[in-house]
Amino acid sequence: MNLFQLFQPAVFALSPERAHEVSISALRSGFLPAPPVHVDDRLHVELAGLIFPNPVGLAAGFDKNAEVPDAILKHGFGFTEVGTITPKPQTGNPKPRVFRLVEDKGVINRLGFNNYGHEIALKRLNARRKNHGIVGVNIGANKDSSDFVSDYEKGIETFYPLATYFTANISSPNTPGLRNLQGKEALEKLLSRIFAQVERCEEQHGRKVPVFLKVAPDIDEAEIDDIAEVVLASSLSALIVSNTTLDRDNLKNRLHASETGGLSGKPLFEKSTRVLAQFYKRIGKTVPLIGVGGIGSISDAITKLEAGATLLQLYTGMIYEGPNLAHKITKGLSRHLDATGGESITALTGSKSSDWA
Ligand code: FNR
Repeated sequence: MNLFQLFQPAVFALSPERAHEVSISALRSGFLPAPPVHVDDRLHVELAGLIFPNPVGLAAGFDKNAEVPDAILKHGFGFTEVGTITPKPQTGNPKPRVFRLVEDKGVINRLGFNNYGHEIALKRLNARRKNHGIVGVNIGANKDSSDFVSDYEKGIETFYPLATYFTANISSPNTPGLRNLQGKEALEKLLSRIFAQVERCEEQHGRKVPVFLKVAPDIDEAEIDDIAEVVLASSLSALIVSNTTLDRDNLKNRLHASETGGLSGKPLFEKSTRVLAQFYKRIGKTVPLIGVGGIGSISDAITKLEAGATLLQLYTGMIYEGPNLAHKITKGLSRHLDATGGESITALTGSKSSDWA
């Protein structure tokens, strides 16, 4: 039994949000011992001019306020993504708003972008600016904003000197109207304003910061066609597939099934992987994809790569498998390359996409 298995019952006795606070505090204080560093050049991934030391990243939503990016990187993640951060602080929806679906290894959340806003995150990122590691900033819009798009412009402007990359998150189901930005015309407008802002910032700071877009899994093939077309015509450096789902199929235990919010974890794996492969078929050779949704094991990670991902992100898997999941997966990826004689993890990308698309 490892340390996490020992503590898990006590952690699960707490409410999910309290458990999350305790995890953040433990990471911040250094109480959680980090695993030994796993270095393997075959796991390096080059994307948007950045070298990712391994393909396993922490998905947005865990470190919403940029409290523990360096502790996360020490735990074996190849990169981390802070946020979603909105210009003004927000308290989010009333509690309870996060539910564990233990039997299904899933979570439903309707947090609603609770975060301390740009100012606090900026101070924290500024304090660690000399540290190494890939720290993306996931930006979003305030619920009461009269112009969602201007909130993304503000995010780019505010964090430009500190972000390794940006993610424009237009796919949270918990901010009413946000997912409408995925519509063709709305998306074109959003991206043209985002990249106009990037150009202004690039001129000022002399550095190009890549922008990724994060989409929902609840889209049909026609919507995938539309998004793919807009993404191809844009300057986006990667597409993140996917955010949480509104679907409640595939649940073994229906106890929390009727809670409003986005479902993540194992019950999301199949759907998000299918949408990933469908995007790979359309744009995967031109725009790299970041596969997210239900990764909880080494074989999940391999399947996601084979379906079309160049990089991976996970969150819910860590709730069930512990903080060393990224380390475990990266070691597993190295063993997979040993066993198959693979020279680089990137050779896996899309190798079985037709099984999923
Ligand atoms: C999330 N997710 C998320 N995504 C995002 O872009 N901004 C956010 O603020 C959040 N917040 C958030 C909170 C909680 C509690 C969860 C569980 C998830 C979505 C997350 O980044 C990821 O896309 C999905 O959870 C799917 O991956 P996993 O969790 O199945 O690995």
